[in-house]
Parts: sequence; C-alpha cells; structure tokens
Amino acid sequence: MGIGQEYREYNAWLQPHSYRFKEPFRLNTSPEVPMVARDECKAGMERLFGSGIWQEDAKKSVTLHINSQLPAEGYRLTNGSNGIAVEGGSQNGILYGVFGLLRALGIGQFDEGTVAESAPAVERRVINQWDRADGTVERGYAGNSIFFKDDRLDFNPERIRDYARLLASIGINVIAINNVNVTESSARLLTAEALPKVAELADIFRPYGIRLALSVHFESPVLLGGLQTSDPLDKRVAAWWNAKTQEIYQAIPDFSGYLMKADSEFRGGPASLGRTQADGANMLARAVAPFGGVVYWRCFIYNCMQDWRDTDTDRPKAAYDLFKPQDGLFEKNVILQVKNGPSDFQVREPNSPLLGAMKHTREALELQITQEYTGHQIDLYNLAVQWEEVFSFPVNRNQVLRDLIGNEIDTVAAVSNVGDDENWTGHTLAQANLYSFGRLAWNPRLTAREITDEWIKLTFGTEPEVVEKLTDIMMSSRGAYEKYNAPLGIGWMVNINLHYGPSPDGYEFMKWGTYHRANRVAIGVDRTSRGTGFTKQYDPYLTEIFDSRETCPEELLLYFHRLPYTYVLKSGKTLLQHIYDTHFEGVQEVERFIALWETLKAKLPGTTFVSVKQRLLKQLENAEEWRDVINTFFYRLTGTTDEKGRKIYE
Ligand code: GCU
Repeated sequence: MGIGQEYREYNAWLQPHSYRFKEPFRLNTSPEVPMVARDECKAGMERLFGSGIWQEDAKKSVTLHINSQLPAEGYRLTNGSNGIAVEGGSQNGILYGVFGLLRALGIGQFDEGTVAESAPAVERRVINQWDRADGTVERGYAGNSIFFKDDRLDFNPERIRDYARLLASIGINVIAINNVNVTESSARLLTAEALPKVAELADIFRPYGIRLALSVHFESPVLLGGLQTSDPLDKRVAAWWNAKTQEIYQAIPDFSGYLMKADSEFRGGPASLGRTQADGANMLARAVAPFGGVVYWRCFIYNCMQDWRDTDTDRPKAAYDLFKPQDGLFEKNVILQVKNGPSDFQVREPNSPLLGAMKHTREALELQITQEYTGHQIDLYNLAVQWEEVFSFPVNRNQVLRDLIGNEIDTVAAVSNVGDDENWTGHTLAQANLYSFGRLAWNPRLTAREITDEWIKLTFGTEPEVVEKLTDIMMSSRGAYEKYNAPLGIGWMVNINLHYGPSPDGYEFMKWGTYHRANRVAIGVDRTSRGTGFTKQYDPYLTEIFDSRETCPEELLLYFHRLPYTYVLKSGKTLLQHIYDTHFEGVQEVERFIALWETLKAKLPGTTFVSVKQRLLKQLENAEEWRDVINTFFYRLTGTTDEKGRKIYE
C-alpha cells in the first residue's frame, strides 16, 4: 500500500494510511483504562483505516483492559473471532499495548488468530535532551529546543504532547529535559520560581507514562543555596539537597531523578573537592531515595587536558580506572551511566569495558541518537545497524552485552536528535534513529533489519519497491559512512569542536587525548597488554583476542594496534591500499543511494523526496571531501601511490 494522502513529515512513524479493513469494530474499554490509551486507540485505528473503522453496532470489538497477571509495562494482543483484545499489565502497559497493536496492524502482521506478548527488557528507557536554557541544542542538528527559549522553559504544549506521543509509542518512560552541561541558567530550573513550569511539563508527559528527570549542576548549593561549598560530605550541602529534593517532589511526585555530569570537561565535581564519585553520587541518592527517585551518574570522565607529548595516559582507560575500584560503594538508587564506547560516540569503537564490569553497581548504557560524529543529520546514518553491533559485542566468552540488558544494566538512555524543525530531526530519514532507539531499549533482541523494516512501513507504507530500496539504502548507510570516514576504528579525524567533515590532524596536537600518532610508516596507538594496557580492562578472554593482530576484529585493528601501512589484511590488501579502496568505495555508495532514491520519486511524498535528495547531494560532497582529504593525508605521509592508479591529490 502506498502513502496516505494525509502524509506529513511531522507525524513521523504515526502516519495516516488508507489501508482496507474487512469489517468495522466497536471500542470497549473498562473504567480503569486511561483516557490516552482509549484516545490513541480510537485515533490510531482511524489513522490506519479511516473513520469508518468504528461503528456502534459492529459485530467485532476492540477491547482494552488491564490484566495484572502481565508484567507491569507489558501487554498481550489477541486477534480472535470476536475481535481484538489489548491487555496491559498496568495503565502504561495498556498504552504500550495500544501502540503495539497499531504497529502490528500498520506493518500488516496481525491476522486473525494472532496472539502477541511483549514486555520491556529494562525498567528505564530514557531520553536525554541536550537542550540548553538559551534555546539552542548542544550537538543538535534539527533546529532549536522545543523546551527552552531565552533562558527559561518556554514551550508549545501541543508540540510537547506530540513529542510525548511519539516517545510513548516506542516505549520511552523517562526524559531528562536539559543538557548535561548545566549552565547557571539551567541550574535555576530547581528554583521555586522555575519549578511550577517544570511541573507543567511533567503534567504533559505523565499521561504518556513518561517521568521527568533533570540534569543538575554539581555546584547548585553554592549557585542557588548561597553556601560556601558543594562538598558532598558537608552536612549543610546534604541538607540543602534534601530540602530541594523535597520541594521538587512536592511539585512533581513522580520525578524520576537527577542526571549528573561531574568532574568532566571543565565541570566541577567531587574529585575537584578531594571526594570520590561515590561520595558525590550517594549524597544525591540519599536525597531522592525516600521518594523512589534515582541518580543517573555519568562515567564520561577523563583528562581533557592531556598533552599530546604524554604517551602514558590513554583516554579510553579513564572511566574504568576511576569507577571500577569503587564498585560496591554506591547506593542502590545510583545508576552509573556509561557511553557505549570508551572514547566518545565514534563511528567504530569497541564497547566500554566498564559495561558489565561493575558487579555490585547498577549501570545504564548511554547511546547517542543525535549524529554528532555520524554526519550531523546531513549524511544518512542508520544507527540501528551500529547499535545491533553494540548489543552483540562480547563481554566474555559466554555473554554479549545484550545478555546484560535487564540484568546488570537496568537502564538504557540516549541523547535525543530532536529539535523544533517541522520534521523533528532535520533529515527526515533520521526519524528512524529515534524510532530504533526506543524499539531497541524495549527489546534489544530485535535486529536492525526488523526495526528498519517496521519504520519504513509505518512511515512510507508497505509498497514492496519502496520497502526494498529504502531498506537497501538504510541498511548500507552506516557502512558507507564508515568507509569514507577515519579507517579501521582509528576515529577522531574530524574538524575540531564541530565534529563534521575531515581533519586528519585536527585533534593530533591538542589536549583532548585522542591521538592517532600517524607517521610515514605506521599509525595507531598500541593499546594491548604490551602497550597502554587498555585491553587488560576487558575479561581475559577478550584481552587475548584484542591483543593479537590476527584475532582482533579487523574493523577495530587501529583502535587496538599500531601498525605499519604495509600490514596485510585478511583481504590480502595492505592497510594503505585498504584505506584508499574504502574511501573510493564510500563515495560510490553515496552515488548509488542517490540513484536508488531517484527511482522512488513517484512513490514518495514530494516534500520528503526533495529534502532527502538535497541532503544526499550534500552528503556526496562531504564524502568526496573525506575521500580526498584522507587519501591525500596518507599519500603525503607514505609517498605510496594507489595500486589502481586513481586520482589522489598531492
Ligand atoms: C562529547 C561532546 C560534548 C558532550 C560530551 C558529553 O564530548 O562533544 O558536546 O558534552 O561528549 O557527553 O558530556
């Protein structure tokens, strides 16, 4: 089926379609079913099948009811001879059941006789907005904030409600609304003047099962409370946080908790006062504990003033070195939030060795939906492909990360890619990344292909040619970007600060600790047991694998090893020739995407066709720039020409 006449980019994956239905339904709901679930069911079915789907005297019904035997947020869908039943384990469960039903019907997978059960893998599925109080969004590529303007909360309730619907439809249940780099003005969200407006926002999210969290400033007691110190072991500091927390819970009884970036990238924190991370986190945790709140404490802490002349310090080791010795010292309601990779949301990284290493401490996996290093929502990059690899990455001989989700890791969080652009995400196809995050946080066993297929069908309909070609483009997009980017996991060859476009030596002589140390014969940092020892932070099974050039996954070779350009890869190519080849191939891939996209012109909505095409053309320019700059960089260093005689600039 093609695209509904009412298609609007704004609707994202909750798009109207004009599917046919066999017979009409009536809607039955028991009194405890929340209004939103009922409304979403009613409107959602109309969206898919037209308003004729509902008839008072219809023989079949859609019944919504609560079944407390089911997991709290879980649901069961049954398509029987009397109609459809949606059972939810709780009010949220029923809402997720309704969205689950609409999804199943939307992708054509809910024939009579079907019974489907689902429940989330983790308790907390969290969105982190990196929105600043001034209305800009850190690493945002889709316009300004939908929450803030002019140093205060200033939002359109309708737009927030629509965001809440989108998030609820993919199972998100917590949102931290402000950037982790808390400025003095966003620290003020905790003041008595600002709290009523925060509470208004919480009121909009609540019916959709979404609880609010706030990023807080470590120095709030000084900034807002007039104290002389923010020392977590100072009784007055703890008392200030206790009182403040009580005030917050009076305004927002279901407040999720505090998100903290401390001791990182010039932010204050316990370490700057001679205290441990546990001292800092536990003080906050004790304040929220009586109210059932949690503290999301970020582990992205490293020395961002490392001198490039210092070859002993190795940035990826920092988080594990700092936190592992403190395992077991954290309060039960502290959740340590760990980025998927030990570096920083690069195109290709191993998983952080800290994930799963803390046996007595709760952990959250942090992903980044906004495309900071992955193309700024100009270049197409289907993050589901990368995240599937993250979940499949081994933790030891017997387990992969996916196996820890819902166990050691009870929270999955991600940085949002949404702004006030009409289509939410700048690049319309980047809507898929928000969708995929929610789906994977709910069920990390889904594959990238399954999720991409769902998203395409819900957004653009089920017409086979559209689904097939778009799936091809989307599934290939990560590989294409990786090919024209920095090679084999070396990362970071980006323009400084901006993080878009190539600059091979951009960070090389700066103080951020991200060095490739390329010279004319070799490239990379030896992070093996023989080098910086980073590989020893992993389970011994993995240490051995990563330590050896032969067994190290090839796509990560330059993450772990220093190698000569003449090193021969499994393909039989030298490292240098591999770099040249992949960079030419990456550009060809983008050309192929453009050609495929062209063939869909008549089958896609005009506005989306044009805007995506413009971005693809810009991506092509970008890819050519990457190819030429990276290839020239290595050619100048090595003086070795391309075996295939293609043009490489001097
Ligand atoms: C990266 C990113 C920053 C961000 C930081 C973080 O360094 O470039 O914008 O603040 O990560 O995650 O805290």
